[in-house]
Amino acid sequence: MASRIRNILTMEPTEQTVTVEGWVKTKRDSKNLTFLEITDGSSFRGIQVIVDHDAEGTFDHLDAATTGSSVRIKGKLVASPGKNQSVEVQATQVDIIGEAPADSYPLQKKRHSFEFLREIAHLRPRTNTFGAVTRVRNALSFAIHRFFQEQGFMYIHTPIISASDCEGAGEMFQVTTLPMEKLPTQDGAVDYSRDFFGKQASLTVSGQLEAEIYALAMRDVYTFGPTFRAENSNTSRHLAEFWMIEPEMAFCTLEGDMELAEEFIKYILKYVLDHCPEDMDFFSKWIEKGVKESIQQVVDSKFQHVTYSKAVELLEKADRSFEYPIGWGEDLQSEHERYLTEEVFKGPVIVTDYPKEIKAFYMKLNEDNKTVRAMDVLVPRLGEIIGGSEREDHYDTLLKRIEEMNLNPEDYWWYLDLRRYGSVPHSGFGLGFERLVQYVTGMHNIRDVIPFPRTVKNAEF
Ligand code: 4AD
Ligand code: MG
Repeated sequence: MASRIRNILTMEPTEQTVTVEGWVKTKRDSKNLTFLEITDGSSFRGIQVIVDHDAEGTFDHLDAATTGSSVRIKGKLVASPGKNQSVEVQATQVDIIGEAPADSYPLQKKRHSFEFLREIAHLRPRTNTFGAVTRVRNALSFAIHRFFQEQGFMYIHTPIISASDCEGAGEMFQVTTLPMEKLPTQDGAVDYSRDFFGKQASLTVSGQLEAEIYALAMRDVYTFGPTFRAENSNTSRHLAEFWMIEPEMAFCTLEGDMELAEEFIKYILKYVLDHCPEDMDFFSKWIEKGVKESIQQVVDSKFQHVTYSKAVELLEKADRSFEYPIGWGEDLQSEHERYLTEEVFKGPVIVTDYPKEIKAFYMKLNEDNKTVRAMDVLVPRLGEIIGGSEREDHYDTLLKRIEEMNLNPEDYWWYLDLRRYGSVPHSGFGLGFERLVQYVTGMHNIRDVIPFPRTVKNAEF
């Protein structure tokens, strides 16, 4: 097997024979020489190959080595006189494996708009930007598992098809095998007893409720899986299908939850800075000026804390107007969240103790009976990146909250049972994985940090 380009780039050049396999990024001709840059996605940089037409070797069909074509090249690895690379390959054999005709291959220009690239999601991984996003996304995924495994958390696979609405917001995609054109009915309503599961089912909006079950047996657990929301939000930070990381800890109150969130974020940011320096340099230079430095600052900083009530006061005092009005009881919109992180706290901030009316039924009620033990982690440029809470661990209070929110207690019988048998204070949070990738890379649209985005009216690939 030929080495990946990433490995070849770090070899000591001793004129040894190497085989390079990949795709032609650029091609430049000068008199008797052809310069090719070959990439294979393993590193930000490609490797430079020089074909000397007068040298001994097989260079048939060199004309077909156009941008996008796949090639296998044998040659000698030598020190490069150029200032952009330390090694290069002097070709002795060039084989074109698959052509990419220049008159039709869509990736010809140096820079295409992200909107255009979304239409060719099958080719965009070959661009500099999407290669870098893909490597950073991979590094973040690995760092997330590593963090939790090092801390002794158990990875739990929670179901994707679910019969309960975790967030109680009714933004669920239904899963059914009933014939849409002829739905069975009973007393005028759809008869779900004849559906596949014998009841109504949906794609999950969160693995939290099931993670809680395991936390109350295994103590510290986490999920990392796809979640689905039929939110009609056409924004740069909402997807209909996104990945979420959800730790859940028994014997843990909101304070421990916030500590874990901060330690976790810093750990994975540091991991990316250490392992993807070239990709981060690229983002910092071309996508979001200074993003690398700002991520480094967060690693070295201390997250600030503020209650929702205090945050609302700060927003009411702000000497600027917002599109959405703010007052106690209103949910924070992204413009409010950004103002708090960018203008007031100048860094990540954790907002706690939100009004119960704007948060989910499972959050622990404070003694004031008005607010819940919720925490949202907000970051500059994005706003909310993490949502979490201490969970209501008292049976009676939880039942009352379920009823208040007009949910059916029968649907949550097992969730209530956890409060009857060995209940214990427990807490957790959810980190939106794509929001994290956006934050780290500085990419402006969430559709450009997931390989195949699903959004309102869009599921092409
Ligand atoms: O705040 P959310 O809705 O919280 C929960 O789902 C809890 N069950 C988590 C928990 O406590 N275990 O969502 C958590 C995070 C948000 O902070 C955001 O980063 C992300 O998920 N998120 C989305 N990301 C992309 N597109 C969407 N439509 C998202 N909705 C939420
Ligand atoms: Mg939230």
